[in-house]
Amino acid sequence: MPITPQQLIDWKHQHRPIVVLTAWDYAIANLVDEAGVDVILVGDSLAMVALGHSTTLPITLDEMIHHTKAVCRGADKALVVADLPFLSYQESIPQAIHSAGRMLKETGVQAVKLEGGHPRMVETVARLVEIGIPVLGHVGLTPQSVHQLGYRQQGKTADTAERILQEAIALTEAGIFALVLEHIPADLAATITQRLSIPTIGIGAGAGCDGQVLVTADLLGLSKKTPPFAKTYLNLRSEINGAIEQFSADVREKRFPEDKL
Ligand code: KIV
Repeated sequence: MPITPQQLIDWKHQHRPIVVLTAWDYAIANLVDEAGVDVILVGDSLAMVALGHSTTLPITLDEMIHHTKAVCRGADKALVVADLPFLSYQESIPQAIHSAGRMLKETGVQAVKLEGGHPRMVETVARLVEIGIPVLGHVGLTPQSVHQLGYRQQGKTADTAERILQEAIALTEAGIFALVLEHIPADLAATITQRLSIPTIGIGAGAGCDGQVLVTADLLGLSKKTPPFAKTYLNLRSEINGAIEQFSADVREKRFPEDKL
C-alpha cells in the first residue's frame, strides 16, 4: 500500500520528518522509491532537467502526463504527486478540474501540485479537494511566475512575508494536505510550519519545515547549474563522463569487445 496524504499529516504531528524527491522517468522513480523516500514529485522542473528548456513554462499537460505514467510504473511505496503545468489550471476552475482529472485518470498518480495562493487559486484548490482530488500547495518562489518574480528569495519584507503566511493559511483552509515552501527566509518558513495543521515541505526554506524536497538531478550532480540552496551528494555528471570516455577509448584502441565476447 503506498503512503497516503493522511499519513503525511499524521507524521507532522508525530514530528517525523518527510523526505521528498523529484523523478521524471521510470528509472529514476525506481531508484528513489527503492531508497525509501516518502513522496515522489513529478515536478515540472523536468521541463528543465529532462527536456532542456530554460524555464518550466513550455511543458504541456500531455508531456507531464507522459512522464508521470513512467514515474508511476517505477514507484510502489511512495506517494506520487504530479505538478500541473503552467496554463493547465489558471484559466478557470473547470479547466483545473479537467487537467487534474486527466492527470489522475490517465497516470495513476495520487495527487496534484498547483502553484500560488491568491484568492482565485484558493477557490480552485477548494473545488478540487471537494471532488476528491488531493492537492499539494506551493508558495514563496513559484517558478511558473519566473517572469514576474525571477528566481529571487520571496517574503523578505514584512508585507510579503505576511502575504505568504496568509496564503498558506487560506490554502490549508481550502484543504491542501501539505505545502511546499520554496526559497523564503527560514524564520518565515518556521512560523508558517508552526501555524499550519498540515506539513510544510521546504526547498531553500531552512530547517524549520516538516520535510524537505530536492530536485533529484541536483542531488545526484546531473544538473549543469544548481540553485544555491541545493545540496549535491554525488557528482554523477563526471562519473558518467569518465565511463563514456573510457568506453570511447576502448573502442578506438580496439580493446572492446574482447575477443571472447
Ligand atoms: O518542479 C519541481 O521540481 C518543484 C520542486 C522544486 C518543489 O516544484
